Amino acid sequence: MAKHNKLLFVCVGKDCKKKGVKKVFSQLPKDAKKRLNKSDVRVVETKCLDLCKRGPNVIFDNEFYSKVTTEQIEALLKKHE
Ligand code: FES
Repeated sequence: MAKHNKLLFVCVGKDCKKKGVKKVFSQLPKDAKKRLNKSDVRVVETKCLDLCKRGPNVIFDNEFYSKVTTEQIEALLKKHE
């Protein structure tokens, strides 16, 4: 089994979907794998994280991010390089 140093959890629950997680999800995993070592990142879709009002929610490398937008992805990835 491959070892991944960074885990990217993306909530794909109903409320996060309503708040645009699909747009984030379509960009973030690709950008993360492009920017970081591809084999280091594992993307996991999760069910509701019980913080629906703050969605879209993402957990990357053990840090929680709320209200994630595609515009924030660059800064988020830079932080985890
Ligand atoms: S649907 Fe994403 S936190 Fe509830």
